[in-house]
Amino acid sequence: MQSILGIETSCDETGVALYQAGAGIVSERVYTQANHAQYGGVVPELASRDHLRKLPGMVDEVLKEAQMAPTDLDAIAYTKGPGLAGALLVGASTAVSMATALGIPSIPVHHMEGHLLSPLLDDPIPDVPFVALLVSGGHTMLVEVQALGSYRLLGETLDDAAGEAFDKTARLLGLGFPGGHLVAQLAESGDAHRFDFPRPMVNRPGLDFSFSGLKTHTRQLIARSQPADYCDIAAGFELAVVDTLVHKCRRALKHTRLERLVVAGGVSANQRLRAALDKALPGQVYYPRQTLCTDNGAMIAWAGWHRRHEGQMSGHIEVKPRWPLDELPPLMSADR
Ligand code: KG4
Ligand code: ZN
Repeated sequence: MQSILGIETSCDETGVALYQAGAGIVSERVYTQANHAQYGGVVPELASRDHLRKLPGMVDEVLKEAQMAPTDLDAIAYTKGPGLAGALLVGASTAVSMATALGIPSIPVHHMEGHLLSPLLDDPIPDVPFVALLVSGGHTMLVEVQALGSYRLLGETLDDAAGEAFDKTARLLGLGFPGGHLVAQLAESGDAHRFDFPRPMVNRPGLDFSFSGLKTHTRQLIARSQPADYCDIAAGFELAVVDTLVHKCRRALKHTRLERLVVAGGVSANQRLRAALDKALPGQVYYPRQTLCTDNGAMIAWAGWHRRHEGQMSGHIEVKPRWPLDELPPLMSADR
């Protein structure tokens, strides 16, 4: 049975997981760095240091939980990019040096392909072709997936990512960082229709997004509001993002004449988004399990399993902080 260790260190989550062919994810750990909250955003140098401190122990724990020794591994996958250069280097150097010492392949993985493939870990598994909506803290994009591994960008954000807009709103509302789930929590007790919010770009053709106007609108509204209004503001903001995403997803399916939609990345954890998409496109939408929406090692191990044919054993440590998804070569096989 093939066993692949996955290591994720692209931003502020250290993720390690073990994927076994036929069995799925057999053990995993995610550590979310808390030291960035006081700065209101991820501080790259602190992120690298924290990955360095945490990663070796987490690799040991994941192997121990699976009752495996390093020598039982068949390959080690790691996030090569996109992400923070220093943070990526910690994962890449750990993975490549371990793999070289063990004489097994190390497999560089594209972080967004990790997100994109994460819904395929669980039933029901969407058949290709499909459209993927990738919504995270760093990216918002619609991708046409005619075959696994070949990705055509249909649209992306012209400014802030959807998760970034959530995080900025959280900061304005005095919540923590990252704040997407905190805005969602606060929104639960709010009236989403009390204040008017713009639906950015929905009246313009095309599949691009823009969230900076919504951010400015929210900032101005908060400046003239009382804390008692914050739950209504959170709810109105969340609904504006959700409506915009749903609108563009429907348009992307129509444009490509495809029927299935895969949604992944941190914002895919949002319950209001899931409910709105399920209502607009019943039976057509596929999500990762809740714990695999935000960054994790499982999606990297799983994408590494798909990419294993291109594995390298060169001991060459390379990261790619900027890496367009449509530059990836097609995948050779998609078996489990
Ligand atoms: O995919 P991810 O872990 O990291 C990147 O690759 O960027 O996504 C993190 C983003 C953050 O911006 C976070 O606020 C957002 O996902 N997020 C959410 C929710 N959970 C996480 N946004 C809205 N609602 C949520 N429940
Ligand atoms: Zn991510």
